[in-house]
Amino acid sequence: MLIDTFGRRAVDLRVSLTDRCNLRCTYCMPAEGLDWLPKPNLLTDEEIIRLVRIAVTDLGVTEVRFTGGEPLLRPGLVGIVAACAELSPRPELSLTTNGLGLSRTASALREAGLDRVNVSLDTLDPASFHTLTRRDRLADVIAGLAAAETAGLRPVKINTVLMRGVNDHEAADLLGWCLERGYELRFIEQMPLDAQHGWDRSTMVTAEEILARLGERFALTPEPDERRGAAPAERWLVDGWTMADGGPARVGVIASVTRPFCRACDRTRLTADGQIRNCLFAREETDLRGALRDGADDAVIAALWRAAMWGKKAGAGIDNPDFLQPDRPMSAIGG
Ligand code: 5AD
Ligand code: SF4
Repeated sequence: MLIDTFGRRAVDLRVSLTDRCNLRCTYCMPAEGLDWLPKPNLLTDEEIIRLVRIAVTDLGVTEVRFTGGEPLLRPGLVGIVAACAELSPRPELSLTTNGLGLSRTASALREAGLDRVNVSLDTLDPASFHTLTRRDRLADVIAGLAAAETAGLRPVKINTVLMRGVNDHEAADLLGWCLERGYELRFIEQMPLDAQHGWDRSTMVTAEEILARLGERFALTPEPDERRGAAPAERWLVDGWTMADGGPARVGVIASVTRPFCRACDRTRLTADGQIRNCLFAREETDLRGALRDGADDAVIAALWRAAMWGKKAGAGIDNPDFLQPDRPMSAIGG
């Protein structure tokens, strides 16, 4: 098992498949992109599959989420998903994507065994989309969402980051749009994980503001806390709306900054270059790639992974006066 000194157990593995991306979201990357990881440092498909197998069969991981950068840019993605779907016990498999190219791959991913997708979408306005992502691809994202729904990657979830003065006025519009299509929307507070260190606590759009904006158009009832578990999103039922399956419609807010949920965290992270991170905000990593390539057996890898998680800190500490942003940006960690 992957446990830490605070009694938390990591059962949710986030695997970053590449640090590259075909968008340039302002809260993530500079316009020119980043120095991408050199190819020889990236885990091969076989290495990734082996590490996921060790996590699932030896370390108690039950959920695997593929992230990036943009994971659809990884040529071997469908094969990696298929191999992970054959593990026993079979983990739940999901993907966090910006949606570009999803219209072409959704059905193959579903057939390979993918269960669900989370698609990032911050705005419904093509001009704001260009301002936020520096690319004109809104229509591709919308087509990707529809393809995911058709392929049965349900419930389709949408992640939205609101930026003041750019898309913060769209909160209720986005919720209405998602409710009409049966997508589950979650807002994420902007975190200090951008490569260019432009995050500013004083201008960040808070969960409280998001809820106030939604409240202008929708009646929200908090979902009882016991249903939340380790999920980072706090959820609200949207009165008067139902999902396609007849269940109540919900909206989530991930208040990573103003209401951190570190006490219930059940995550462990593997970067595209084979490092274990026990927290999004960790400043230390554990190298599994070196061990893999030195011929370590499964038991040695599992022991390194356990040790990496044992050292997990109580919390991210964004509000501590001595908080330092991790050296690796979000795009090289995975969401
Ligand atoms: N703060 C909050 N969310 C972010 N994401 C990327 N960078 C940040 C940030 N600095 C979001 C993306 C995606 C998810 C993986 O994380 O929009 O939906
Ligand atoms: Fe790409 Fe996601 Fe970063 Fe946007 S937030 S640039 S989609 S990795």
